[in-house]
Amino acid sequence: MTDSLYDIPLKRLDGRALTLGEFRGEVLLVVNVASKCGLTPQYAGLESLYRQYRGRGLQVLGFPCNDFAAQEPGSADEIASFCTTNFGVDFPMFEKLNINSAPRHPLYAQLIGALPEAVFPSGSDFREKLAGYGCSPKRAGDVLWNFEKFLIGRDGRILQRFSPDTTPDDPGLVAAIPRTRKPDVCQPTGSAELAMLDVYMPMMKSSAIITAGRLGLFEALVDGPLTAEELATKIDSSLRGTATLVDFLVAIGYLEKEDDAFANTASTQRWFTSAGQVDYTPGLLWTHEAWSMMGSLAETVRKGEPEQTLWEAMIEKPHLGPLFSSYMGAFAADLGPDLLKHVPVLPEYRRLLDLGGSHGLHSIRFCQRYPQLAAVIVDMPSALTETGPEIEKAGLSQRISLSPGTLQEHEWGEANDLVFYLSVAHNHSAEENRLAIRQIGDSMSPGGLLVIHEYLAETSLDALNAAFRLTLLLETGTQTHRHEDYCAWLLAAGFSAIERIDLEPREKGSLILARR
Ligand SMILES: C[S@@+](CC[C@H](N)C(=O)[O-])C[C@H]1O[C@@H](n2cnc3c(N)ncnc32)[C@H](O)[C@@H]1O
Repeated sequence: MTDSLYDIPLKRLDGRALTLGEFRGEVLLVVNVASKCGLTPQYAGLESLYRQYRGRGLQVLGFPCNDFAAQEPGSADEIASFCTTNFGVDFPMFEKLNINSAPRHPLYAQLIGALPEAVFPSGSDFREKLAGYGCSPKRAGDVLWNFEKFLIGRDGRILQRFSPDTTPDDPGLVAAIPRTRKPDVCQPTGSAELAMLDVYMPMMKSSAIITAGRLGLFEALVDGPLTAEELATKIDSSLRGTATLVDFLVAIGYLEKEDDAFANTASTQRWFTSAGQVDYTPGLLWTHEAWSMMGSLAETVRKGEPEQTLWEAMIEKPHLGPLFSSYMGAFAADLGPDLLKHVPVLPEYRRLLDLGGSHGLHSIRFCQRYPQLAAVIVDMPSALTETGPEIEKAGLSQRISLSPGTLQEHEWGEANDLVFYLSVAHNHSAEENRLAIRQIGDSMSPGGLLVIHEYLAETSLDALNAAFRLTLLLETGTQTHRHEDYCAWLLAAGFSAIERIDLEPREKGSLILARR
């Protein structure tokens, strides 16, 4: 959160003036509430959530609003008495404010500006129901209805936006509440007293987390704690093996133990289960394969290039392609909201070309959001095995087509309005990128937009950047490129208005947007 968000003047229901600065350092769940809505009983769940997590620094903040079918008509006194009498509300309640109606309150202007899209529980038909009542939002970003929820982290970052039908006990919402500081896995060490610990412990940590993913252990705990016996039965493993593994997972902070029961931490629930914001279990399954490939790193370093590229390995071992694509799919699920936020799609745009589009999730997301778009996904056949069914599942077979093959063989055509070159340039040499960007430029209509997502080579490498470059040396024999390189290729290909957006957190990389 910027300081300005902490500084916005607000009033409590009793008229006392304050700012969110009073809650600095705590986790905030900002909820717009109303007394006469079908969702009003959520007050009870919000109060339980508040009581359960208050001790760990969660504040639920209620903001009454009359913008949604005038379901909050009462005075401040009436609202206060309604929520204490009916639901025993003890969490902080604020004065009524405007959310979608003008002038939008600065608090909501900032929240919506930061996160224009809410996350829905799986299978939700809330949006369709609202449309059925003629209550669809009027402007992009509008809050949908009463009881939408914004989660703000201790460091002030606006973390997540949950739809009104996400109940306060929803596992995804509960899991998203930050409870402990994220361990900084990329901190350089090199200072272990026994240097072998820098080799042995990361290996054991990585192996244990991957093994938990392969056994479905985190997912087995998604609905709550289990004893070692119950867990062993659920993941179809020996009690001895399960108990030894979970003890280590507790020791490294990936599980919590209370009495005899083991539970996911907020972070494992969030990152490695279906209840979380993004399930990176496909990344664990992929890393299991990557471990054995690391075996040839010494030969690669000696030679300066891989013995066999990832793409060659995928032809030899066909199971690798779908595994890799589904790992990329997890990244794409994480990146999707950033792309929607930063990529301006003009009403006249019709054709989207998604180069190296793999799993197809970016094309699907953009076609869902912009009904005028039709997309073509270009990628190698090994990356597209699951893409057709995904497109069909999304009901977009008429609008998204596949073009299997390499970029080098691609028939570029013309009149592309929007081109995605997302996490593909690091798989290519400088010369291949220069050529591809020229071909992209030639295939685009004037005013079209090229979107590049990349990890940029910086002069001073941090540990993550340096690790990624080593992975690329091994897997594809390629490297990351500098921002200046992209600018030079883009300008030479006739692009202008080049814009660089560094994403937050920085581990998400950067976007480069350029106009044709
Ligand atoms: C890191 S993944 C990124 C996938 C997707 N664009 C995303 O952002 O999630 C790179 C993709 O580029 C594809 N790719 C790499 N080199 C390619 C080439 N020469 N021609 C076509 N696709 C290529 C790979 O198959 C892979 O699917």
